[in-house]
Parts: sequence; structure tokens; C-alpha cells
Amino acid sequence: MMHSIKLSCVSLGALLLSSIPVLAASEPVKPPIVITGADMRPATSLNGEWATLVDPYFSGLFSFHHEEKKNGWFLNQKAKSGDTGPIEYDFSKSPTLKVPGDWNTQRESLFYYEGPIWYEHDFTYQPKTHTRIFLHIGAANYRSWFWVNGQKVCEHEGGYTSFNCDVTAVVRDGVNFVVAAVDNTRREDNVPTLETDWWNYGGLTRSVSLIEVPDTFIDQYDIHLSRGEGSIIEGWVHVEGGQSGDKVEVAIPELKSTASGVLSSDGRAIVHLAVSALERWSPETPKLYKVEIHAGDDSITDLIGFRTIETRGTQILLNGKPIFLRGICIHAEAPYRTGRANTDKDAETLLGWAKELGSNFVRLAHYPHDETMLRAADRMGVLVWSENPVYWALQFDNAKVLAKAEQQLDEEIETSRNHAAIIFWSMANETPNTPARTQFITTLAARARELDPSRLITAALLVRAEGYTKVIDDPLGKALDVIGFNEYIGWYEQRPETADQTQWRIDYQKPVIVSEFGGDAKAGLHGGDNDRWTEEYQANIYRHQLGMLNRIPQLRGMSPWILMDFRSPNRPLTGIQDEFNRKGLISDQGQKKAAFYILQKAYTEKTVGKPE
Ligand code: GCU
Repeated sequence: MMHSIKLSCVSLGALLLSSIPVLAASEPVKPPIVITGADMRPATSLNGEWATLVDPYFSGLFSFHHEEKKNGWFLNQKAKSGDTGPIEYDFSKSPTLKVPGDWNTQRESLFYYEGPIWYEHDFTYQPKTHTRIFLHIGAANYRSWFWVNGQKVCEHEGGYTSFNCDVTAVVRDGVNFVVAAVDNTRREDNVPTLETDWWNYGGLTRSVSLIEVPDTFIDQYDIHLSRGEGSIIEGWVHVEGGQSGDKVEVAIPELKSTASGVLSSDGRAIVHLAVSALERWSPETPKLYKVEIHAGDDSITDLIGFRTIETRGTQILLNGKPIFLRGICIHAEAPYRTGRANTDKDAETLLGWAKELGSNFVRLAHYPHDETMLRAADRMGVLVWSENPVYWALQFDNAKVLAKAEQQLDEEIETSRNHAAIIFWSMANETPNTPARTQFITTLAARARELDPSRLITAALLVRAEGYTKVIDDPLGKALDVIGFNEYIGWYEQRPETADQTQWRIDYQKPVIVSEFGGDAKAGLHGGDNDRWTEEYQANIYRHQLGMLNRIPQLRGMSPWILMDFRSPNRPLTGIQDEFNRKGLISDQGQKKAAFYILQKAYTEKTVGKPE
């Protein structure tokens, strides 16, 4: 804002308003909603080049007295003769960025940028009668605001979950425009908070589209195989705008099975389908069935696999059988081009490498990954650990922060609950052992169980040491079905061979998973087993780790850190890290390191871990 012209706010406001369409400021903006299976709905893609404006001072939205503007850049105004004030932006002349995509790897000047950026995109549309239109956002990191034709339609916080904004009232026949402001500024009371060991990729990082549904439509559903002898598929369907007594129907044609349900006052109908000759989903047989859901004028067809997951003492049972999870961690970093992963190809490359490693399991760290990744895991038969970004030291005593973590957890589960691949909801990673933290995450775990009693709850805990004995007694373990723990023997602590004499004391009779171990190596850098940063040193860590882990009787899985090198602002070591975390078994350019083959051998020959 130009400070030289000090017109009184009122007169300035009045002047400007006279030439600008009146905003229905009074109308509260509806919060965005979750739509389960949104990616299976007919949609108009808005992906492509969007005009952008970098706005470090957020002057496109806030006045010089930090009040939200009525005539902000969301109006996408064009200067015209006779204007009473200057229009100091013009999307039609500004540079573009690709959507979906992070801005950091698209434009060098934005590589380190953290702050607000404006996006504008024109689209033509023919609204239909008795049809609601939602602006579907796959993800926007971190805080985002959306306007269509100058009217605010929603705002959202959280960079890794999808949401949908009702734009039915503002979309018009013909040319329309959507404007978004996305701000990836890190703040202490965010989830995640200030410190992360991954790049803070900003922007509209996943697909954006317009989804059409009837006035009354199926917004959420949960269809899964009931635990037990496995001939009952159960669940529920929620109908937005549905009336008590309305009928819903769920059909699985391939199984010649149909069931109907009736909405109760909460808009939800319970369904039970009796099935026979069901081919259960598993890594060996990732069978997916077409599931058709009908409610009034609305229908959706999803592709769902049916399996059960549970624990029995220290065992994890997949379809009633003990299983050992041969896994690897994955960040949503795009192979080769780097930046936020968001395509089918990204997913198939990453999961393809995991399968080549001999994995039947992946830990998708440290935030919910894209639906493209989860669809690929369903198709390719890879079990998934999905995680809420409660990472390191959040403000655990701040109720607002708990509400944000709960909102992100709800969005994660409500969006992705029908993926057979997902067996774990992880509540957190490496959080400090304090009473506030334990209370915070115990609350989240109870919420996840209520939202989805068909899966297992876990978290990645820190371990403590008593001499050469590692102890897992974090009180948070009480709230978990399966205990994950991270350890870096041979990298951040001691030497690779220290693993040989390390004992483990685990104060829980539950299945445990080593959710992280490993060390950095620059692909192609060679030396002796004790030369840090070399492939040989990393391989040496893996050799000793596999021996040690085999001595933990209740170990039921592992996901070493990490499949592929990824960008991190905490890793500046020139010539070696160059702002990448190099703990990948594969470099970001696809070069397999020596340790890849160590783990591949152990996984394919099944010499590590015991299912029971
Ligand atoms: C931590 C953390 C990861 C991090 C890794 C590392 O344990 O969970 O996010 O990248 O260690 O230090 O490489």
C-alpha cells in the first residue's frame, strides 16, 4: 500500500467500492468438505498453467492496517479508463506456474520462497439444474483461500489433505475465473510446526478440478470386509442433503451381491453385504472389485479391495494370517525432477522400486500422500502406513493446535478410508515424551479408532538407552495397537557394528515395527566400510542392523529410512548432501546404492523378520 496518499479509510473505501462489485461480505463462507472417492467422480480438470503473483507482504489481501481488503486481488480486476484508483496487478500479464506442482522447483527465484503466492485461472462452464458444483483441491500447502468470480468460496489450513469448496452459487454460464492465495509460511502453531526435515514445497501441489454432483449426493462412505470369517462386507453410506428414510444401495456385481440401507436422521445408512467366493486383497493378490453405490439421483463407482487387518498378541494378522512387513519409507518427492510428487508415474516409479526391493509394505512419511499413490498401492499390492503430520515438537498444550491436527486426521481418514492398501493410521513421528504430548496424541488415537475401527493405530516413537540396551517404554505406547520406533545406530549414534551388541527392552506385549534406521550415502561415492557418506558405510549399517533386528522376537515389520534421497533444508553439506537428505537407497536420479542390494537380498530371501 502507498503510504504517501493518506486518504481517510472511509472516503478511500467509499471511492474504491463505487467501481467494484459488492461482495456479499455478510454471508459466512461455508467450510470446505471432504468427498470420499472424489477422484472417481466425473470432473472438469483445472490443471495446467495458472497466472501467478508473488506477494510476500500479502498486500493482495490485507490493507496497510492489516485489515482484510474488500477489493483484494481476488477480484482479478482489469484497469479501465475512468478508474478512480490504480489497479496495481494484472494476472493476464503475470508469469505462470503449473498446477499441480510446488512453486519451489518450477522457478529458481522461488526455490527458497516461503510466503503467499496468488494463482488465477479462467475456465468456461455450463452449470446444470439440480446440480451442485465443488472446487476440488487435491492439496494446497499450507494455508489457502479461494474465490470464484470475485466471491470467496472457502479457506483451508493443512498442506497434505484434499478438500472441496461449494461453488454452486457463484459459477456462471460461460467464462469464469478462480483465484487462490496459498501461503506456506511456517508458524509455531501449525501442523507440522517450524522444523521439518523435508522441503517446505508451497503451492497447489495436487490436482484441482470441478466436480458435479446432484443436489443430494453421497459425500462419504466406508465399505470394508468385517473381521471374522470374512463373508460379510459391511459399512455405511452418508448422503449430504439426504432425508431420514431415504434408501441407498450398494452392489458388487462381480460377487453378485447387493444390499440396501435406509438413512437415519444423521444422513447415514448402514449396509451389510453377504458375499461368497470373495478373493481377498493381499500383496500377492491385490484384487480390486467394482463397488457401485446408489442414493437417489446420485451414484458412484469405486474400486475397492477387501482384506482384514488386526493384531493377536505380538502378531499382525493380514486376512487372519501372521505377516512380517518388509518395508521402506517414502517421501512424496518426485523421482528425477524432484519437487512434490503428484502423478501416477511418480507413484508407479516409487512403488515399483519398493517392490523391486522385495517390499510388501511402505511407510508414507510424514503426511498423507496423494490419492494417486494410494490408488497405485491398491493396484500394485503394497501395504501402507499413512501418517498425520504431527511431527517432532508441536505446541502440544495448545488446544487450537489439537483442533488443527484433528481436522487433518479427519480429512485423511475420510478421504482415504476405502483403500485396502492402508493398514495403519500413524498418529505422529518422534514427538517428545511429555504429559501434554501423550495426552494430545492419545486423544488423536481415540478419534482415529472411532472414525475407523477396522484399521490399526500406530506412531513412530523415540527410544532411550541404558548403556547398550535400547528401551521402548514411551507411555504413548499404551494408546497404540502397533509400536513403531526410530533408531539410528551407526549414523547419529555409535558405529554400525555397535548394533551387534545392542539389546532391546520393549515394555509392551505388542507387535513392533522399526519405522526408521539408516544413514546417508552419496550415490557413487566409494570407500571403506568406515568411511562416512560412502555407499560402503551405508551398506555396513544395513548389514549390522539386519543382524540386530532379527534378535527382537516381537519385531513384525521394518521400514528403513528411506527409499529415495529427498530435498531437505537441514542438509547443506556441499558436494555430498547439497540440500538433500542422502539416506535414500536410491538417489533422486534413480542410482541404486550398495545398501539397496543388501536389503533386497534379505527381503527376497526372507532372511529378516519373523511373522510369528
Ligand atoms: C528422523 C525423522 C526423519 C528424518 C530422519 C533423518 O528420524 O523422522 O524425518 O529425515 O530422521 O534424520 O534423516
